[in-house]
Amino acid sequence: MATKTVTFEIKRQASPDAPDVWERFELDWRPGMNVVSAMMEIAANPVTADGKPTTPVTYDSNCLEEICGSCAMRINGRASMACSALVDNLDQPIRVEPLTKFPLVRDLQVDRSVLFENLMRVKAWVPVDGTYDLGSGPRVYPQQQEANYPLSNCISCTCCMEVCPQFNVTTGFVGAATIAQVKLFNNHPTGKVFKEDRLRALAGDGGVQECGYAQNCVKACPKQIPLTNAISDISRDVMVQKVKDWLKS
Ligand code: SF4
Ligand code: SF4
Ligand code: FES
Repeated sequence: MATKTVTFEIKRQASPDAPDVWERFELDWRPGMNVVSAMMEIAANPVTADGKPTTPVTYDSNCLEEICGSCAMRINGRASMACSALVDNLDQPIRVEPLTKFPLVRDLQVDRSVLFENLMRVKAWVPVDGTYDLGSGPRVYPQQQEANYPLSNCISCTCCMEVCPQFNVTTGFVGAATIAQVKLFNNHPTGKVFKEDRLRALAGDGGVQECGYAQNCVKACPKQIPLTNAISDISRDVMVQKVKDWLKS
C-alpha cells in the first residue's frame, strides 16, 4: 500500500539581505501531524522533494501548545500558529512563509520586538515592587475577573498586527494587542494607577485613532480575544482623557 505523503513549500531566506527561495519537501503523513512537527522532521532529514540536501528550517517555537505565541507564521496565506495548525485541516501543498510585517531574521523567524516596545510604551504591567511584603492587594471581584480573563489570554503572537492594514511604518500604529492590554491593566485595581499615562500614550500618533475598524485582527486572533470591543472602549476612554486634560490646561 502506498504511503500517504504531505507536501510542504517553504520560503527560505538565509539572512535579511539574501534572496528568498521556495523549497519543496515531501514527508510521510502521521496522525496528528502539525506544521511544527513537520519542521522537526525536516530538521532530522533536511532533503528537498527532488533529493537535494539543504539546511534545517529556522523558526521560533517553544511550548507546542499555543501558549507561548512564538510560532506565528503565514500558513497557506493566513497568519497562524504553526504548533496548532494540523496538516489534516490544510490544503496541499502547504505553503509556509514568515510573517511579513516584522523584520526577517532567517527563514520563518522574524523579530517581533516592536510588540514588546509598544507594551512598554503603554506601561502594560501592574506596578508592584516585589522586593518586600506589601500585604494583600485590593479585592478583585468575580465580575471583574470574568471581564478581564479573555484579555489576559493574549499570547503576544502578533497575528493581529500581521493582518491589520493600519499596522505599518507610515502610521506607527501600536496594534490591537497593545490596546487590549491597556484595557486589561486599566481595569485592574492596582494596575489602574497608570491609567491616565496609558491613555495619553494612545492619544497621539500611532495611537488608537489609527484603527480603521477593519476587524481583521479579531478574526485572526488564535485566542478569540474581543479586540474590537477593547478598541472601542479604549477609544472612548482616550477621548474622555483628552477632554479632561484640555479642561485642566
Ligand atoms: S480593527 Fe482593523 S484597523 Fe483596527 S486594529 Fe483591528 S485590524 Fe487593525
Ligand atoms: S491579541 Fe490575539 S492575535 Fe494579537 S497578539 Fe494577542 S493573542 Fe495574538
Ligand atoms: S510553540 Fe508556543 S504557541 Fe506555538
